Amino acid sequence: MSEELRLRENQNRFHQAIGAAEIRGLENSLMNASNLAGTYYPEDRSQNGFALYAMSADLAAKPLSERLPPTPLRHYYGIKDNRYHDDLYLRSGLNDVNAMRRLLVKDGVRLGSAPILEFGCAAGRMLRHLEAEARMTEVWGVDLHSAAIHWAQAHLSPPFQFFTNTTAPHLPFEDNSFGLVFAGSVWTHIGELDDAWLLEIRRILRPGGRLYLTVSDQNTLAEIKRLSPDHASNRHVAELDEATGMLSKNWVAFVTRTTPWMQRVVYQRDAWLARIGQWMDVRAAVPNAYGWQTGVLLAKRG
Ligand SMILES: C[S@@+](CC[C@H](N)C(=O)[O-])C[C@H]1O[C@@H](n2cnc3c(N)ncnc32)[C@H](O)[C@@H]1O
Repeated sequence: MSEELRLRENQNRFHQAIGAAEIRGLENSLMNASNLAGTYYPEDRSQNGFALYAMSADLAAKPLSERLPPTPLRHYYGIKDNRYHDDLYLRSGLNDVNAMRRLLVKDGVRLGSAPILEFGCAAGRMLRHLEAEARMTEVWGVDLHSAAIHWAQAHLSPPFQFFTNTTAPHLPFEDNSFGLVFAGSVWTHIGELDDAWLLEIRRILRPGGRLYLTVSDQNTLAEIKRLSPDHASNRHVAELDEATGMLSKNWVAFVTRTTPWMQRVVYQRDAWLARIGQWMDVRAAVPNAYGWQTGVLLAKRG
């Protein structure tokens, strides 16, 4: 048998073994499987590939903090009365950064003296408000969503630096690189890999470095019920409760999945802090620090 035939046969056997008749099917099943590590959201799924473009002259003329991404890259921030409001998008990012700054200042942290990373930065809704720090030190943003990262690279870099990461809990930085890593509403979506990501981020923090992240907890559940009875989350929680009876049991965390990609993670705050407190010092936990999510500040020991 020729080498080429042998390779093709091997390939066919592999495709059959994993149930994908041809390479396009294989790619589709890999990219759609939410439980496989190592995936990301591609820029474009068409078979022709994609092209990237430089920033328009209009946006280049604006201050960096006012360059607005197209609405599909805003991840639902700045919506009111079923439509996107530019000013709300910009203000929401500033408010969330200011809430983080207040916690850091209270904890004695001075920003700008050591590199900063935003994990799950999307199109830089928060990161754009750290422009002053980015003139003093490296400020990075990473996300699974490659279209958001490509937009950020074209519109916010320099001074910021960006790349697309995968769902595998690894970031290509050296140990002890950052003074601050922050993640707004990312621990709300990373389900089973939450601890692995926390430990990976601990690895790249300097000793004494801080991780600021926001989570949904029992306070968040109560706030959504009180302030927004029609919110889809209430229905998702009720459906999972119907299937599991979890709310009348001693639950410590749960995940509702709405699509293969979308998951919403909720923790019992004290139980979760007790677990992660074994790995990092818990400096603060502030309910409603980021909308109805709780802001948590952790420090790497050492
Ligand atoms: C609700 S959005 C928040 C975006 C941004 N942090 C903000 O506050 O504007 C959640 C973001 O986390 C990103 N994300 C989820 N899991 C991730 C992972 N494992 N690695 C990197 N980004 C992730 C999503 O792609 C999305 O951009």
